[in-house]
Amino acid sequence: MAALAGARATAFPAGEYVGQESFMRAGEIRTLAHQARVGPGVSVLDLCCGVAGPGRMITAESGCHYLGVDYSASALATAQELAGDLPCRFEQARLPPLPAGRFEVVLLLETMLAFPDKDALVAEVARGLEPGGRFAFTVEEGRPLTRQERARMPAADTVWPIGLAEMTGVLRKAGLTVSWRQEYSSSHHAIATALLHCYRAGSPRIAGQIGAQAAAELIRAHQLWSDWLGSGRVRKFALVAQKQ
Ligand SMILES: C[S@@+](CC[C@H](N)C(=O)[O-])C[C@H]1O[C@@H](n2cnc3c(N)ncnc32)[C@H](O)[C@@H]1O
Repeated sequence: MAALAGARATAFPAGEYVGQESFMRAGEIRTLAHQARVGPGVSVLDLCCGVAGPGRMITAESGCHYLGVDYSASALATAQELAGDLPCRFEQARLPPLPAGRFEVVLLLETMLAFPDKDALVAEVARGLEPGGRFAFTVEEGRPLTRQERARMPAADTVWPIGLAEMTGVLRKAGLTVSWRQEYSSSHHAIATALLHCYRAGSPRIAGQIGAQAAAELIRAHQLWSDWLGSGRVRKFALVAQKQ
């Protein structure tokens, strides 16, 4: 196994690593999919799927009709290869807009943070949902980063937390009503901290895989996530919002 994936696999409790590039445990991904009523034949669009660890697990376990979208060609090539015989489809695109068509469930796992304009994204999600469709996602809750925090966080142009009241307002404006919400701050603090330790321990091999600068930034970012989730500077929530 490559150094990075090996470190991730070590950081998660037994049975909780399924190739996710995030702080979500497999059990939390299953709970979110269950709350969104993902099941046999349900059409699922997975935004920012990456290598689709969660998407592959959900497809294998539920028999849903899965389409994963990401802008990274290399992530999608890995996703396709790892999907093997699973009936997963993948499309390369920069979101928004969403791919054409209507879906019963839209997933966005661990990437709401990357979108500075959440109104534009959520309006597109609402457009792409069937009536009664569900938007299932995680969100990093908190005030915008200060100038000093932005200076410390690698790739700060992809780090846009949002207050929970504001997020609920964005959903409501798009015609989506929150039907389920769960806080995962302490669980994700534990995973961020475990990842930090594993990345530190494996740093020479990880640097060999992704380069010394990228490895150092990975460790710096996880130190900040561990601090922020531990102190309450940022809280993590999973939500399901339904289109009327
Ligand atoms: C943190 S990873 C999460 C991957 C996956 N959802 C998971 O939970 O394992 C974020 C992914 O979002 C993709 N991404 C970020 N912004 C995007 C955008 N505007 N359009 C498409 N993909 C995007 C990145 O390429 C990356 O693969």
